[in-house]
Amino acid sequence: MSDRSRPASIQGIPLENIAREFGTPLYVYDGQKIVDQVKSLQEAFDGIPLKIKYATKALSNISILKLIKKAGAGVDAVSIEEVRLGMMAGFSPSEIMYTPSGVGFDEIREAVNLGVMINLDSIPLIRQFGEKYGDTVPACIRINPHIMAGGNIKISVGHKASKFGISIELLPEILDAVKEYNVRIVGLHVHTGSDILDAEVFLKGANVLFDAAKNFPDLRFIDCGGGFKVAYKEGDPETDIKEVGEKVSSAFKDFCKSYGRELELWLEPGKFIVSESGFLIVQSNVVKEAPTVTFVGVDSGLNHLLRPMLYDAYHDVYNLSNPEGKENTYSVVGYICETDTIAANRSLAEVNQGDLLVIKNAGAYGYSMASNYNSRLRPAEVLVLDGEVHLIRKREIFEDLIKNQVIIDL
Ligand code: LLP
Repeated sequence: MSDRSRPASIQGIPLENIAREFGTPLYVYDGQKIVDQVKSLQEAFDGIPLKIKYATKALSNISILKLIKKAGAGVDAVSIEEVRLGMMAGFSPSEIMYTPSGVGFDEIREAVNLGVMINLDSIPLIRQFGEKYGDTVPACIRINPHIMAGGNIKISVGHKASKFGISIELLPEILDAVKEYNVRIVGLHVHTGSDILDAEVFLKGANVLFDAAKNFPDLRFIDCGGGFKVAYKEGDPETDIKEVGEKVSSAFKDFCKSYGRELELWLEPGKFIVSESGFLIVQSNVVKEAPTVTFVGVDSGLNHLLRPMLYDAYHDVYNLSNPEGKENTYSVVGYICETDTIAANRSLAEVNQGDLLVIKNAGAYGYSMASNYNSRLRPAEVLVLDGEVHLIRKREIFEDLIKNQVIIDL
């Protein structure tokens, strides 16, 4: 494994020093990597009016959002809280896409009042939206394209049986509802899933929208969602975004010609932008022999990084403290009272109690899916930017855990 893929430092700053200063467990993000990812996507779609709407849910720290704004992207939000975070980060409402799934109408109303674009994901919602706003508030429709794609079934969301979007088979009913209530549809959206390797899937999704678009005369944008796969280990294939860029851009240009107007193309990447920027640094609390396996128990677990437990996701782990040590096979496990295996049967440089281990690809769906399970505290977050280390979220303290509890007299 190369040093580059298992770095001991970020922008020249040793991870060990960062861990000593802020303690473990600790989320560390490489800001340059985030900026580079945004740039590479912009380059892959060069020549067409591209708008990147970063999927906030992947990593929603406000300082990260500010950095993403500076890099030239907008945001996709899936809750009113994410809309608010985006606005706190300085995004104007016009830079925010709100893609809720089955929320109550109060939340839709709140988002409309804030002035963000609403992505309508059911026919009843189109009706309710139309009844309330008629053609006064432009909106987008989320289409379910009936495409099965994604790293695993839990993150495949564009297939026939998925709860997301409105089935493309229901296009006549969509059109009836839009017409009946005179709703002004300015965007069409698909998001097929996460960890999608094949460029063809993105083209397929786009084509479903291009076909449907002829029924919507007021379109301003086509939103092809997110889902680009990143590498989780050395040699792991990742989506060839240049190929996606070429294929989708070319089809998009043809589509715009036939539509008769230049539209914007929107994308909503989450993982692609932040996954590789993130490192979760943990400390080995115990090295423990069992008959068939040697466990390394660390000061973290599914409460801080849920992906291995939830999706059997693979995250590379390396020993920061003893990189030259003799390789042994270990299972790295968390301190939660569940079988929270972070990495099973992995070859790691000899681990001793107190060693710092680094868990890679922790930028996307790491902190944002963290919890207080086992009444554990969530870690701090640190951003390395222009060679400087910034604390962007304090480590939780016990008071955070109990601050909303109302302790009654008994
Ligand atoms: N747009 C919409 C409407 C989405 O629902 C999502 C992700 C994205 C964009 C961004 O997808 P990405 O580019 O990050 O793959 N927690 C899972 C991933 C769930 C994704 C949910 N929606 C994981 O850790 O793999």
